[in-house]
Amino acid sequence: MHSERIRLAALHDKVMSAAEAAFLIKDGMTVGMSGFACAGDAKAVPFALVERASHEPLSISLITGASIGNGLDKLMAESGLLARRMPFQADPALRKAINDGKVMFVDQHLSETVEQMRSHQLKRPDVTVVEAVAITEEGHIVPTASVGNSANLALFADQVIVEISLRYGTDLEGLHDIYIPADRPERAPIPLTRPDERIGCTAIPIDPARIAAIVISEYRDSPSNVQPADGETQAIANHLIGFFAQEVEAGRLPRNLGPLQVGVGSIANAVMAGLVEAPFENLSMYSEVLQDSTFELFDAGKLDFASGSSIVLSAARGAQVFGDFARYKERLVLRPQEISNHPEVARRLGIIGINTALEFDLYGNVNSTHVGGTRMMNGIGGSGDFARSAHTSIFVTKSIAKDGAISSVVPMVSHVDHTEHDVDILVTEQGLADLRGLAPRERARAIIDNCVHPEYRAALEDYFARACERGGQTPHVLEEALSWHINQERRGHMLAAG
Ligand code: COA
Repeated sequence: MHSERIRLAALHDKVMSAAEAAFLIKDGMTVGMSGFACAGDAKAVPFALVERASHEPLSISLITGASIGNGLDKLMAESGLLARRMPFQADPALRKAINDGKVMFVDQHLSETVEQMRSHQLKRPDVTVVEAVAITEEGHIVPTASVGNSANLALFADQVIVEISLRYGTDLEGLHDIYIPADRPERAPIPLTRPDERIGCTAIPIDPARIAAIVISEYRDSPSNVQPADGETQAIANHLIGFFAQEVEAGRLPRNLGPLQVGVGSIANAVMAGLVEAPFENLSMYSEVLQDSTFELFDAGKLDFASGSSIVLSAARGAQVFGDFARYKERLVLRPQEISNHPEVARRLGIIGINTALEFDLYGNVNSTHVGGTRMMNGIGGSGDFARSAHTSIFVTKSIAKDGAISSVVPMVSHVDHTEHDVDILVTEQGLADLRGLAPRERARAIIDNCVHPEYRAALEDYFARACERGGQTPHVLEEALSWHINQERRGHMLAAG
């Protein structure tokens, strides 16, 4: 018996196999699972569910924090287990099932899911599965490498299954800060005024009577496969660092820049890694996902504190960080994603929000989710939570995709996630457009001059000139506005002649 991991003795008889625990989940149920950006996800029970779905009718609505690892979204989608999925995913097989209309995907701002559940606008889970390093003497759940939506999904569920992970040490206890907003009308302001404050408790304060099963798990989190900076991501990082230096010089940003929020992926990681050599000290992060670059900045003595909702590392970095966790623990906190992403807190702290676009248009509207306007990529994630509330809202992307067949700067975006009103700065490897205080025609000028790939510049210039001849606050040639996308779909290149 793992009594150091399950410290409430009354729960010891709840230990069972994953297959037995999975029988708590019935066809048609709404199921919550821990997991955020492939960190801290439930693993043993979903694997058992996939096995069951292969030989019995079993389909569920699945709610997590964000994407999950170990190929589980793929396995669940391919086994027919998923009827509905929310609020984020990043798996090619699930993406295909979504775009084929086989899985109903609800793409949501990551801060909103549990808030909607709290007010009964979303169905609460019948069963929630949470990965944990331990259960305390009170029966409270200590999460692993993410908090995500785990706390509220557990608190709102009829029954909870805890997967005790032997892959994480109990030294993670104390890392988490679980703060649960009260129901209205008793709701108070979230009392966070700095990224390093702790306002909650270190474990999910659940009534242990609702822990229906405990599974001992040997599964590991999937490592991140973030790519090292290439010439283009490095150029994007350099443009941004030059911009930050200019803002500090002008007195519009403090010398430590203010709390940084950075999206996931290789571009975001390159931007953060670029700060290792940049002349800024005492940095802090108020973000969602803490990647390898967070720990590079700690090791370089540049970063004072990082607040996030999950820690997602490459295999080598993960072994180093979790093998020597005491070195970092006091400078880290993991919060529920409704707090890490809370617009109230983002606005109060004055974060610099750096998120990623698939494409943006002449006027600065951003599409982060829909390829060709219709096919889901991953989801909006937390980008919208931050973009509206940030002190400075920045979007980055390479200027072209698919060897130049696609321009990421287009006349009109084919889907809008972030309207022009939420976008201050746009950056590609070509340069940086500072849109603050500019009217639409001025924004277009800044974007054409700074962000567009040379192969597409003349065509965009020509579109803008002809649009301006027609007039308007935000000029367009409407019958041509999506012609680049149509060209790409029909002829394989955005500028292919019809
Ligand atoms: N049209 C079609 N495909 C495009 C494209 C465009 N305009 N721009 C990029 N792509 C493709 C790339 O070719 C690449 O395809 P591949 O996987 O087949 O190689 C893929 O999109 C990813 O692009 P990449 O340039 O490698 O960037 P990325 O890995 O940083 O991902 C997003 C970019 C936008 C897909 C990703 O950041 C995302 O999902 N963002 C939304 C959520 C978010 O912002 N989260 C952060 C806060 S949670």
